[in-house]
Formats: sequence, structure tokens, C-alpha cells
Amino acid sequence: MTQEAHNGKSSVRTRSSRRECVEPGRFGRFLFKMTPKWMLILLAVLIFFSEVFAMFLLNLLPPLSPYREALLDSTILLTLLSPVYFCLYRPFWLERQRREDEIRRLSRQLIHSEEMTRTRLARDLHDEFGQGLTALQLGIETLRNSLPLGQEKELALCRRLSVMIAQLGNHVRSMTTELRPSMLDSLGFVPTLRWFSQQFSERYPGIRLDMQVVDESERLAPEIEIALYRVCQESLNNVAKHAKARVVRITMIRTKTLLTLAIEDDGNGFEADPCYSPANDYQRYGLLGMRERIAELGGDFSVVSSPVEGTTVRVQLSLAKEEKE
Ligand SMILES: Nc1ncnc2c1ncn2[C@@H]1O[C@H](COP(=O)(O)OP(=O)(O)OP(=O)(O)O)[C@@H](O)[C@H]1O
Ligand SMILES: [Mg+2]
Repeated sequence: MTQEAHNGKSSVRTRSSRRECVEPGRFGRFLFKMTPKWMLILLAVLIFFSEVFAMFLLNLLPPLSPYREALLDSTILLTLLSPVYFCLYRPFWLERQRREDEIRRLSRQLIHSEEMTRTRLARDLHDEFGQGLTALQLGIETLRNSLPLGQEKELALCRRLSVMIAQLGNHVRSMTTELRPSMLDSLGFVPTLRWFSQQFSERYPGIRLDMQVVDESERLAPEIEIALYRVCQESLNNVAKHAKARVVRITMIRTKTLLTLAIEDDGNGFEADPCYSPANDYQRYGLLGMRERIAELGGDFSVVSSPVEGTTVRVQLSLAKEEKE
């Protein structure tokens, strides 16, 4: 992972990596608990004693030219300090990497179980509630038709109940779709995104939504479609929640080998944390979730934000492997 901060813009970029989890041992874990101040003190003490030792060794040798003396001094210093790298710096970073890997693994697990829960909930809502409401509606219709003439009060009650059941049915349908749009499976990413964008525009009429999609002919792999949909869903939700934007633009360009998706807004932007690390990003689930979904597909994910230009969420996915399969 690299971090960039330039021209007043903040950006956090992730390149997915499949790194093995490494176990650094007790010493690494001890160092990880050290504060940066103590690390620095320890390092300064080590450099000091290495230098004293180097001077001591130089004193034992016959006088040398300044050039040779400097060369020998730095060689001794480097030789003595290399254990510092292996004993201090490396275990520390291995421990850090291990923790970051663990957080990545857990957040991927979370994404998977969230997706499964959403799918199951949507199915249960549709099957149990939807069908139950339909049965209720039919029952009330039968009751209404069987009422003898002149029972106006009962007829009105049946009509009211019927309207209530229809409203409940609409609620259940929109909840089911919000949880996991079935058209994502049947029609694919682009039609679902168009539908979601329309819903977004109706819900937030103050934000103009432009969409540009190049090449929507072929379906993508299901895991790519769901990841792209969730990225758009979260980005648009973030725009509505945080950006105070007037315009948001979704651009998707797909070639045979590459897919680029960008969600840009002209809102107030935000500062990407310059000390960004997944290890301290546990409170921002939205951005973290998007990044992990794309990392899992082996793609590039970046967020660039500035108060002047707003926020751009960008995804790049290589489709070359998918084409071969
Ligand atoms: N488009 C945007 N415009 C302005 N600020 C944004 C935008 N997207 C994200 N942010 C900022 O980045 C922070 C992190 O976003 P993230 O989606 O990870 O968390 P969240 O939206 O606060 O919570 P949630 O976990 O519900 O998504 C937000 O709190 C917000 O300050
Ligand atoms: Mg969010």
C-alpha cells in the first residue's frame, strides 16, 4: 500500500497483494508494544555504542588516510548495525504486517458473511413475509366477497385492511431489493446500477446524477458485479451523507482487458488520514469494505479527495484472466 498527499489532495491507494501471514515471534510482539519514543531512544543508544566500538577498533589500527578511515568507520558501523535491522526493525514490521493481514482477513470474512446474511434475509423476507401477505390479502378478499349485503362497516374495515396489507407488501418488496437486488443476478450490474441511480435521484432530488457507461454488452463474473454494485451503493450513500454535493458522476469504461469505474462528486471532500493504515481504520467501515472487496478481486482502489474538487472513488479491475476462463 502507498499513500500520497500532493497538491492539497489526499489520496489513499491500495494495490491488492496476496501476502502470506508471517509469525514474528515474542520479540516482535514486545517491540510492537513499544512507543515510537522508546524505539528512538533504543536506536540512538545502539548507534552510540556502535560508534564507540568503531572508534575503539580504529584506535587499535595503525594511522590511516582520512578517506580509508571514513570507509572503515562506515563499514564497521554498518556491520554492527545490521543486527539492529534483523533484531529490531524486521520483527517490528513483521508484527505490523501480521496485524494488518489479520484485519484484512477478518474484514473479508465480514464482507462475505454480510453478503450471505443480506441474501438470506432478502430470500426469507420474500418467501415468508411476501407469501404470507399475499395469503392474507386473498383471505380478506374472500371475506369481503362473502359478506352479506348491508354490512357496510365490515366492508369498510376489509377495504382498510386490504390497503394496509398492500402497503406492507410494498415495504417488504423495497426492503428485499435494498438488501440484495434480484435484478443484479438476473439482469446484471449496469441495469441494476441504472435502477439504483434512479432511486437515488428520486430520494435526493437536490443532487444531479450523471451516468456514463461505455460497453455494457456482456455480463461480468457474479463476484465482480456484486463488488462493483456495493462500491457504487456505498459511494453514493457517502455522497448523500457527507459530501453536500450538487453533482455526482458515475463513469464506467470497459475494454476487453480492463474495467474502470469512477464515482466523482463536487462536494466538500475530506482529509484522507496521512497515517492511514487498515490497523487504525476500524471505524470507517464503508471505505474499508470497498477497498477490501476490490483487493479481493486483485484490483486497484483509490480515493482522492480535496475541498475544492470533491471526492473521487476509483476502481480498476483487470479482466484479462476472466476472459481466458
Ligand atoms: N464523498 C464524500 N464526501 C465527503 N466526505 C466523505 C465522502 N466519502 C467519505 N467521506 C468521509 O470519509 C469518512 C469515512 O467514510 P466511510 O464510508 O468509511 O464511513 P461512514 O460513511 O462515516 O460510515 P459507514 O461505516 O456507515 O459507511 C466519512 O465519515 C466522511 O467523513
Ligand atoms: Mg459510508
